[in-house]
Amino acid sequence: MKNDNKAQQKEILWQTLQNAAERMKQTHLRELFKQDPSRASKFSLTMDEIHLDYSKNLLTTETIATLLELAQVCEVPSAIKALLSGEHINTTENRPALHSALRQDSSQTLNVKGQNVLPLIRAEKEKMYRIVEQLHQGIYKGATGEKITDVVNLGIGGSDLGPVMAVEALKNYQQTAIRLHFVSNVDPDAITNVLKELNPATTLFIVSSKSFSTPETLMNAKVAKNWLQENLKTEKIINQFIGVTANAAKAQEFGLLPENILNFWDWVGGRYSIWSTIGLPLAISIGVEHFEEFLLGARRMDEHFANSPLSENMPVLLALIGIWYINFWNAHTIAVLPYSSLLSYFADYLQQLDMESNGKQVQHSGESVDYLTGPIVWGQPGTNGQHAFYQLLHQGTHFIPIDFIVAAQTHTEQLASQHLQLVANCLAQSAALMQGTPSDVKSTHDKMPGNKPSNTLLLSKISPRALGQLLALYEHKVFVQGAIWQINSFDQPGVELGKKLASTFIASLENGKMSEEIDHSTRTLIEKIRQF
Ligand code: F6P
Repeated sequence: MKNDNKAQQKEILWQTLQNAAERMKQTHLRELFKQDPSRASKFSLTMDEIHLDYSKNLLTTETIATLLELAQVCEVPSAIKALLSGEHINTTENRPALHSALRQDSSQTLNVKGQNVLPLIRAEKEKMYRIVEQLHQGIYKGATGEKITDVVNLGIGGSDLGPVMAVEALKNYQQTAIRLHFVSNVDPDAITNVLKELNPATTLFIVSSKSFSTPETLMNAKVAKNWLQENLKTEKIINQFIGVTANAAKAQEFGLLPENILNFWDWVGGRYSIWSTIGLPLAISIGVEHFEEFLLGARRMDEHFANSPLSENMPVLLALIGIWYINFWNAHTIAVLPYSSLLSYFADYLQQLDMESNGKQVQHSGESVDYLTGPIVWGQPGTNGQHAFYQLLHQGTHFIPIDFIVAAQTHTEQLASQHLQLVANCLAQSAALMQGTPSDVKSTHDKMPGNKPSNTLLLSKISPRALGQLLALYEHKVFVQGAIWQINSFDQPGVELGKKLASTFIASLENGKMSEEIDHSTRTLIEKIRQF
């Protein structure tokens, strides 16, 4: 009875929002700003290092109020509690999604299957920090007794994208001369081109894999092992491997020494694992203190998410604005445009976070959805994007809401005025997209309609703390959207079929034998590949 009631309320709100969107289509963002001179103060929010301006969106106070009601009816507040307290919200895999525990204050208590996990997290982190210190001090030696000069992270997906993005984003905080490299692709060119620049005696490999069974990573790890063996000709090469995994048994099967294995847990999703020992490359790069700052930033966002009313809750607001466009304006895509070369890999990282989490079409109940879910996320840093695809944003026919991200301060103070150029470009693009050209523009070719919505996320500086906050903000945004769509944001069954097929096609590529089940297109391609 209670559920019927909720379903009914949801339907009514859905219809109200649909009607509101139809009405809103008759107006222009320019008008909304004219009607309310205080619009930007009304539709903005500051949380520590991040200021969110959402005033350049096609919405009114009334829209926000209805969206907030939708969040209430979809029980977002209890979903937030369930997430943060370790309930089994990953329903298909029957486990919690406790990435927030990785940045929690370890003096607290958080039980998973009756065990307080915070001391376990602390212990693994301390083991990781010891490795970092040993590397920084030159105590960690290779098989022939030389100091480590280069670290190569072998991992893919969540075991690569978080570290690679964050190491780049925080390279101004680098504390070591040790060079970091990342190899994710199974493409032999990828690993070969990295190894050819390196000295086997001074290179350490991190094999990062939650499952320790991802073929790409294991194949690259084997190549690395052979490379060390052939060049150093000693058993001790295994000291030049550190495993980071939730499957220590498999890592040991691969030959890694137990003392060189850093653990994390099955209740940490791969795409949410940068906060765990998967963050080792980042900790090596920026050092322990900055890594702790990074975690603290995320923790501050967790606290904000847990304790703020929905109407002042940054992740909730971002999520609802996304829902508004996806479900009521039929937006299929969102562009994320950071005005910072430090955030060069941010869109790649967000692609996995958002698309692997919410690229789903089945609800918790097992029923198919009859509404759009997770959007296509894409983007690249401004101003580069301006000279590539912004034409389409301004005058194309697709509806693409945008998140602009920009930092007020630069790390390159001697070029502070050049940084202002960057910031001015960001502001100019969001303003131009919103306003469009004045009505007296003669040629239809030159006319820009404007009315293109965007959020602006203004960071004080790209610091460890601000980056921690930004990542946790998007994690929680994605979670809230999943809660409203009633999907499980923490599994990824869709990636399995392709993996299985790849393993069957390898034999056919090698020996030309093909089973009846292989479709005609794939058969022809296999034949052609063998001919070439
Ligand atoms: O194929 C998808 C995926 O399972 C991701 O979710 C994960 O981040 C990636 O593969 C790598 O997995 P692992 O860390 O287990 O090697």
